[in-house]
Amino acid sequence: MSAKLWAGRFSMGTDKAVEAFTSSILVDKRLYAHDIQGSIAHSKMMAKQGIIEEEEAELMEKGLLEVKADIENGSFVYDDALEDIHMHIESALTEKIGDTARKLHTGRSRNDQVALDTRLYLRDETRVVIDGLKTLRGVIVALAEKQFGVVMPGYTHLQRAQPVLFSHHMMAYYEMFSRDQERFEDALTRINVMPLGAAALAGTTYPIDRHYVAELLDFPKVSANSMDTVADRDFIMEFLSAASIAMVHFSRFSEELILWSASEYHFIEISDAFTTGSSIMPQKKNPDIPELVRGKAGRVIGSLMAIITQVKGLPMAYNRDLQEDKPPLFDGVDTLKAVIDIYVRMLPNIKVMADVTRLSTETGFLNATDLADYLATKGMPFREAHSVAGKAVAFALDKGVELGDLSADEMKGFSELIEPDIFDFLTTDAMVERRTSFGGTAPSRVRKAMDQAIADLGGR
Ligand code: ARG
Repeated sequence: MSAKLWAGRFSMGTDKAVEAFTSSILVDKRLYAHDIQGSIAHSKMMAKQGIIEEEEAELMEKGLLEVKADIENGSFVYDDALEDIHMHIESALTEKIGDTARKLHTGRSRNDQVALDTRLYLRDETRVVIDGLKTLRGVIVALAEKQFGVVMPGYTHLQRAQPVLFSHHMMAYYEMFSRDQERFEDALTRINVMPLGAAALAGTTYPIDRHYVAELLDFPKVSANSMDTVADRDFIMEFLSAASIAMVHFSRFSEELILWSASEYHFIEISDAFTTGSSIMPQKKNPDIPELVRGKAGRVIGSLMAIITQVKGLPMAYNRDLQEDKPPLFDGVDTLKAVIDIYVRMLPNIKVMADVTRLSTETGFLNATDLADYLATKGMPFREAHSVAGKAVAFALDKGVELGDLSADEMKGFSELIEPDIFDFLTTDAMVERRTSFGGTAPSRVRKAMDQAIADLGGR
């Protein structure tokens, strides 16, 4: 048992088991740099406001930077008795500079301090995530450009539906990750708010200048209500919501890569460097990366569930429950960053089996809609055309062939409107090329979509 920085009103030391139970140092020690950054700004503000002497602030800054160096060179000693990173740093500072350190906590509380540290940390990490998503979008466009012209079946209900360009399929993911990036950019505007000065919950009697602290730490905004400030974890919920949605996208992408790697599809091969073998089956080459990504999606969604259920029943203002925000936040940040990074590395190393994907567009009646469109263009109401095309499909199925294998006479049997040009009309390439509507899969459209993406990304 040791003397606590808050021990004044206690007549007994803390039980060891309580120290171990309440300590968060193993988790929140990663906030050290932001804690020090925040404390330096706080001490500078206090000096400017005449709350402490200029020399005291200078001494504090020097000492805090020494503590930072100790942490970074591994000589810093952690101790459960000191609870969290804030207490560790303050107590180390006291060892270095003596009594002056004991003025550092004037006009602030750990409640607003931890909010500041977490926001500084998450602001940095959100920017890393935004940059990562931007890089990933570039990698996806590059893959779409590299495989431009490759056709594949598009699916609904996992049944072959209509042919599409592989590039079009990739650009669908480009859109998803673009929205994800926007969500993080939007979340950042609410993460990037300066909370220090709310103190424990009610503000402080000292003549602090919160806007000056915001200026020093480059926050565009200062939080408005001191109670909300120390109780608010919306910014973590928002980050983890955006992260969960992004992970859903990664998980769907992964599911497709896994399916496409199976010999039943054989649409792609993931490079040897990004797959693993089996310890028993020599033939195996397993898509472990997408599988793990799919699994990690559950983990990030779990982190979101953790934070929203932690906060949902809390009365105003700060409650110690809020210390439990960090494990899900840190795990969510780490997991998402690792997933973005591995995708950026893996995607360029995917080989697309263009012959296989093309062949798969040529069986399964992917041209049935186009037969109906052909008739409708010639004046038949679409509903009737749909039914005629359906009869043609049933007839071909019965014969065990595709529509393109029927004779001109057989075709004419379904409708007098059908001319021999139907056979060119029903090829994969013709079908893809005709889908020129905005957002469609025609090569001319996909080329424009890729050009737009390259422009949005600021070049290749
Ligand atoms: N370690 C706490 C947290 O992470 C901050 C300390 C607030 N503690 C307190 N007794 N008010 O939320």
